[in-house]
Amino acid sequence: MPITPTAKIWMNGSLVDWDDARIHVLTHSLHYGMGVFEGIRAYETSEGPAVFRLTDHMQRLHDSARIMMMELPYSVEELVEATKDVVRASGLPSCYIRPIAYFGYGEMGLNTLPCSVDVSIACWPWGAYLGDDAVTKGVRMKISSWTRHDHNTMPPAAKTTGNYVNSSLAKVEALKAGYEEAIMLNRQGFVSECTGENIFVARHGRIITPPLSAGALEGITQSSVTAIARDFGFEVVEGDLVRSDLYIADEMFLCGTAAEVSAVNSVDDRPIPCPGPMTAAIAEEYGKAVRGQVDRYKDWCEHVG
Ligand SMILES: Cc1ncc(COP(=O)(O)O)c(C=O)c1O
Repeated sequence: MPITPTAKIWMNGSLVDWDDARIHVLTHSLHYGMGVFEGIRAYETSEGPAVFRLTDHMQRLHDSARIMMMELPYSVEELVEATKDVVRASGLPSCYIRPIAYFGYGEMGLNTLPCSVDVSIACWPWGAYLGDDAVTKGVRMKISSWTRHDHNTMPPAAKTTGNYVNSSLAKVEALKAGYEEAIMLNRQGFVSECTGENIFVARHGRIITPPLSAGALEGITQSSVTAIARDFGFEVVEGDLVRSDLYIADEMFLCGTAAEVSAVNSVDDRPIPCPGPMTAAIAEEYGKAVRGQVDRYKDWCEHVG
C-alpha cells in the first residue's frame, strides 16, 4: 500500500513539509522497537472532516507510553489539537492518521530512561485495509503458526512498534499461504485477535469477543461495535474461544480502525456464512456512525473545524 504524500507532518510541535519530516538513523526506537503509536481515521461528514474517537485514541497513546515508562511531552488535549491541525493542513475530506512517539536520537543502549521523546503525527489517504469488498465478500483467514505474545513478554495492551513484529510474521505467513489475514492464538490456545484487528464470533445468536486477558489490544472499534451491536439488541459478551469455535461459527467479523468492520468468509478453509445478518447490520451502522450520520453516536465524531 504505497503512501500518498500530503502537505504537512506535525513534528514536536510544528507542522513541517512532508519531505522534511526526517529522523536520524541512530534514533533509539528504530533499533529497539520502543515506539508507541496509533492508527486513527478521519471521515467526511456533512460538517466537514471529523476524526473518529480522536480523544480516545490519544488517551490510549498515553496509556501505551505509561506502560513503556515513556513520558510524553504533550497532553492528550495538545495531541488532539495537533491532529486537527495536520488534518486541516492536508485539505483532505477523509484520511488515515498515524501518531507515533519514540525515543529519539542521542542515546544508545537498552536503558530508555535518559532518552528524549519525540512525537509526530502524519495523515494521508488510505482506503479499506482488507479491500473494498471485505464486508460483502469477506476475508479468508488462517490461524497463525505464530503464538500471540503474552502479558509477561511484550504487553499487548501497549500499542508499541515492537509488538508488531509478531503481527507482521503472522500477516506475511498468511498472505504467502494464500489467505488474507491471520488469527492469533495465545500460549494457552485461546483466540486472542488478528494481526491488526479484534475479532467477533457469533454462535446461537450470541456474539463473543475475546477478553483483553487473552492478549488482545483494547480496540476502540471493538468498543464502538459492541455499543452498536447492543443498541441493536444483540447479546455481546467477552469470552474465551478456541480454534474449533471458529470453524463452527454462524458468522464472524473483524474490526479495527484500518479494517473497519470486515466479514470473515472462512477460517482454515472451513467456510463461514458471509456476511451474516448481524455482521451486515453492524457494518452498515458503523459506516454511518463514523460519518456522523447516526445521532446517538455523534459524540464519537470530533470535528476538525
Ligand atoms: C493488534 C491490533 N488489535 C486490534 C486493533 C484494533 O484497534 P482499534 O479498533 O482501536 O483500531 C488494532 C488496530 O490498531 C491492532 O493493531
